[in-house]
Amino acid sequence: MASDSKRIGILTSGGDCPGLNAVIRGAVKSANRHGFDVVGFLRGYEGLVDPVSFVPLNHKNTTGILSQGGTILGSTNKGRFAATVGVSNRVELDPELLAGVRTTFEQLNLHGLICVGGDGSLAVSQQFHEYGLPVVGVPKTIDNDLSATAFTFGFDSAVDCATDALDRLHTTAASHDRVMILEVMGRHAGWIALHAGIAAGGDVILIPEIPWTFENVCQKILERDRQGKRFTLIVVAEGAKLPSGAVVTQEPEQKDRQTRLGGIGSIVAQEIESRLGRETRTVVLGHLQRGGVPTTFDRVLATQYGAHAVRLIVQRRFGEMVCYHPPRMESVPIIEAVNELSTVDVNGSAVQAARALSVSFGDDPQPVGPFQLSGPPAKEIPAGPPAASADHPKKSSEGIAPTEFDRPVFFA
Ligand code: F6P
Repeated sequence: MASDSKRIGILTSGGDCPGLNAVIRGAVKSANRHGFDVVGFLRGYEGLVDPVSFVPLNHKNTTGILSQGGTILGSTNKGRFAATVGVSNRVELDPELLAGVRTTFEQLNLHGLICVGGDGSLAVSQQFHEYGLPVVGVPKTIDNDLSATAFTFGFDSAVDCATDALDRLHTTAASHDRVMILEVMGRHAGWIALHAGIAAGGDVILIPEIPWTFENVCQKILERDRQGKRFTLIVVAEGAKLPSGAVVTQEPEQKDRQTRLGGIGSIVAQEIESRLGRETRTVVLGHLQRGGVPTTFDRVLATQYGAHAVRLIVQRRFGEMVCYHPPRMESVPIIEAVNELSTVDVNGSAVQAARALSVSFGDDPQPVGPFQLSGPPAKEIPAGPPAASADHPKKSSEGIAPTEFDRPVFFA
């Protein structure tokens, strides 16, 4: 590889998710059109130094990867590069490590490096930026918890997976009159639980942002019983706090990395069984949410992120991260992206809509009131069928005869 060619690098860091390969492909295709060669570093930041490990990326080896899950470059959320900033404590990177990375940039004549990662991984790129290395960021995580962007890629695919699981649990729950609990990922944000819960018609959604009680969850199950619905579908986020305020983890607290969450689903199940004597089953969806093909939305988003990250390098807007504020693709300083977690707005439109449909969040029942949405006041819509107009003349049957589906069906 000639050291005088114009070149950029790309790496994927942290937990994987669907869409990483789509970013890589988008970046390579667009970089080539801007006259750049591309190298992909292996296993995240680890590939940058001691030993430097990378592969040249081109049309040939990125063809057909748009729809593939995982990452062709590999990734890790462990290793020598750990540098949380902002919401967590900052850990300074080893100066020798940083010097080694600078040498790699010089030897490979890198004009820029695209770092694809979540908050922890982007915190590393922030330190690279402060050290004077030309980096740009792409926001990745199924958790959708980066405040600087409306959507991270991978989130939609994870929600799709959780929705499919809930749809399947729904039918078996109904057949057996059972309570079914699905525990989903998302760390300290309830986005996956909220969106999948709404998409699949969940009855109870427990998220970290809304304190809840076992009494209220059981009340909802009993309320459904009274309505003749002998099954209940519950989705619980792994980071939802118990009524005591405790977060359920799979291991003792870790100092050098994020502690693994998980296990709340079975605690909720045990409590329901002991309080109501109702058969309850739990499914922990786990890493299924991170595998498989990206959804259409994630493919489009990831492709745009890849192409726009290259644009940031071409425009020498280093230290920035691409972000999506529909319908615009924009950029923000990476530091802004890692400074604040994006959690569910408990008064937001999605929560309000779910409440309007009687979904329980395990908190005390809320009065049904007008939606508190931002924006101009809604127009009053008169009750009843729309008045006839020249454009929409009234059909003779309107408002009189029931439709086929409204009529009761009698079997002889
Ligand atoms: O941040 C993404 C995520 O999948 C979280 O939702 C989950 O808590 C965590 O990573 C799992 O990490 P690991 O793959 O290390 O078990």
